[in-house]
Amino acid sequence: MAASINLHKISRFANLAIPSMAVLFFLGGHFVSFYFHFLTVTFLLLTVVNLFYLYIQKKHTILRNFGILGQARYILESIGPEMRQYLFANDTEERPFNRIERSEIYRKAKGIDSASSFGSQLDFDNSEIKVRHSMYPVDRENIKDFALTFGEERGLENTYTINKPYIISAMSYGALGKNAVQALTRGARMAGIPINTGEGGTPKYHMDEGGELIFQMGTAKFGVRNDDGSLNDEKLRKLCAEPSIKMIEIKLSQGAKPGKGGLLPKEKITQEISDLRGVPLGQDVVSPAHHIECMCKQSTVAFIKRVQDVCMIPVGVKICIGKTSEFRDMVREMKAQNVFPDFLAIDGAEGGTGAAPKAFMDGYGMPLMPALFSANKILTEEGVRGRMKIIAAGKLINSSKQFIALALGADAIYSARGFMLSLGCIQAMLCGNNTCPVGITTHDPSLQKGLIVEEKAKRIANYVKGLEHDFYEMLAASGIKDAKDINMDQLYIPDDTALADQINALLKNANL
Ligand SMILES: Cc1cc2nc3c(=O)[nH]c(=O)nc-3n(C[C@H](O)[C@H](O)[C@H](O)COP(=O)(O)O)c2cc1C
Repeated sequence: MAASINLHKISRFANLAIPSMAVLFFLGGHFVSFYFHFLTVTFLLLTVVNLFYLYIQKKHTILRNFGILGQARYILESIGPEMRQYLFANDTEERPFNRIERSEIYRKAKGIDSASSFGSQLDFDNSEIKVRHSMYPVDRENIKDFALTFGEERGLENTYTINKPYIISAMSYGALGKNAVQALTRGARMAGIPINTGEGGTPKYHMDEGGELIFQMGTAKFGVRNDDGSLNDEKLRKLCAEPSIKMIEIKLSQGAKPGKGGLLPKEKITQEISDLRGVPLGQDVVSPAHHIECMCKQSTVAFIKRVQDVCMIPVGVKICIGKTSEFRDMVREMKAQNVFPDFLAIDGAEGGTGAAPKAFMDGYGMPLMPALFSANKILTEEGVRGRMKIIAAGKLINSSKQFIALALGADAIYSARGFMLSLGCIQAMLCGNNTCPVGITTHDPSLQKGLIVEEKAKRIANYVKGLEHDFYEMLAASGIKDAKDINMDQLYIPDDTALADQINALLKNANL
């Protein structure tokens, strides 16, 4: 029979032992040495706390049944995540990113070669999609340099070209602290990639760093709104005239909380953020679930057109796909109005967030790969795939996942958490609490002080360099001379993966 500790007996013993010790030390203090009274006071305090737990407080069953001993459970529970992360979790176990995945980012960000030895720690049980190589790899000098131009489909004068397939995905000043925004933007500039401002309003710190920016207009339209939440065309026009603003992204929805607006907990509203967003201090900021102008497919497409007319720079839309039939209807409406966003950013349900209701984070939205595949298929079937670019987001932190997304229809890659990890994020999962231990998602100066902007900016640039190196190596190994030729033929999709099931089902079902 397994030996077990009878906590109830121990706690009953403790209930007697603690006051007895107080009496014993009191006698010791009286007859032996005055110093025993220090222990008398300690045990008297413990007795009072124990009695409070056992007979007065009514909230916690464990404390009412086990007294002070029950407190140990709460202490162990509170340090459990750290104990598991540092001591007990194995390398492939943690979520959202396991240690192997995180270490690869850390190594890339530090400029350390990410070659590893002996063998992969991942499963090769026919459950994962892999990239097919060619018997005839090509040399780097025969591979065309990556270039992707947004806005060319509309014949825009102010097109925007990226020369690397990576973009830092939306994270607002608010969700992120000042040092993090500065380091990301400076790093993006050093790496030669753009950064999305997130929905935090006037991107003051982003603009100070002089990076190339995609301004995100969330549903609350911070920075470009009228008092009633509608778009202020003049404010947007003025912002678009800033040389650093290269594109606009209208956020319709986000993978971590589709159907909900952004959420910034009150703990993170400083005076400056309150001023930048025009929101009160001391209250959670909850953005509306949709733009006031977007009530149906007609008004949504008309709104895209209005923003395009105001901005004169590429304008895209960010969505997490839910109902594919609604998406197809929206695409048909675009055709009807002859209005197309310059890019579609597809955010998988597995995407990250500063804060979101758990039910939405866990339960809503289509994961990236099937969403990407469906969107690409619908756009192709509707004959409009060539009218816009697709940017994919959703845990695309390493080169092989990124390659798979490109093969399933993406033209470029968004990453938020890959870049947070490069900044030194340790996945403490405290982004909404203002207590981020590495100073990234906090406004507490005493925690931000460890995040040295110059140092971390270099890590962002190194990470991009490492990814780009892999990207061309992978193109070479797959025998592809132009990134535009990456397609599903380059993928080995085993029959029995959950993803393969979904994709195969989607392939069979023409009426998505
Ligand atoms: C801290 C944090 C803040 C974010 N803020 C925004 C935001 O302001 N607007 C938005 O559309 N998405 C926001 N996101 C979502 C990301 O832009 C991205 O779509 C999602 O995390 C998927 O990418 P990833 O898996 O590479 O993190 C945020 C994500 C994180 C982790």
